[in-house]
Amino acid sequence: MKITFLGHASLSIEVSGKHILVDPFITANPRAAHIDVNTLKADYILLTHAHQDHILDVESIAQRTQAVIVSNWEIATYYGNKGFHTHPMNHGGSWQFDFGKVKYVNAVHSSSFPDGTYGGNPGGFVIESEHKNIYISGDTALTMDMKLIPLRTKLDLAIFPIGDNFTMDVEDAIIASEFVECDKVLGVHYDTFGYIEINHEDAIKKFFSSGKDLMLLGIGEFIEL
Ligand code: NI
Ligand code: MN
Repeated sequence: MKITFLGHASLSIEVSGKHILVDPFITANPRAAHIDVNTLKADYILLTHAHQDHILDVESIAQRTQAVIVSNWEIATYYGNKGFHTHPMNHGGSWQFDFGKVKYVNAVHSSSFPDGTYGGNPGGFVIESEHKNIYISGDTALTMDMKLIPLRTKLDLAIFPIGDNFTMDVEDAIIASEFVECDKVLGVHYDTFGYIEINHEDAIKKFFSSGKDLMLLGIGEFIEL
């Protein structure tokens, strides 16, 4: 499994020969100016919630790639009505895709589209694939529901927002990593806007003192599991 950071909370995941984009927000992110949205591959686009900073580039990418948009019922219906391929899910449900099993899990946040359309309840994804399991929490507060995840899945990586203000901060993400029983964390949702700028060294040190590993990738950098 190869996970490329595309800036903000956007990821590209390659697994079992498939390309999965998560929360594509690239063209309005000046820090991601070197990422060419027109060359990104996508068989699936996973959306945690409907906020602008998670869906901005969905339509252009889905149009070009014919990718299947996977999200909650309301978001899938919104894109389905526009003629896109979709797979609707809802909280607690799993589906076996050709690249692995995906479960849509709880997040504590909000989820309206930029035009005010109701975007259902926000979520995260647990992906079990190629003997590697990851959890993408999406934008969320620290929540006790995270403790449910290790009851079913032994995680190899947790992907958490750490930018504070709209989501968990670094300290809460450390507790979240305890809740999900995964010491390896990829941080997202930081530095993009003024509200969520963080001190990288400080964040990494805090995780390290808790016996955990926080990875902060440059935009375009990847890790392999
Ligand atoms: Ni959000
Ligand atoms: Mn966000």
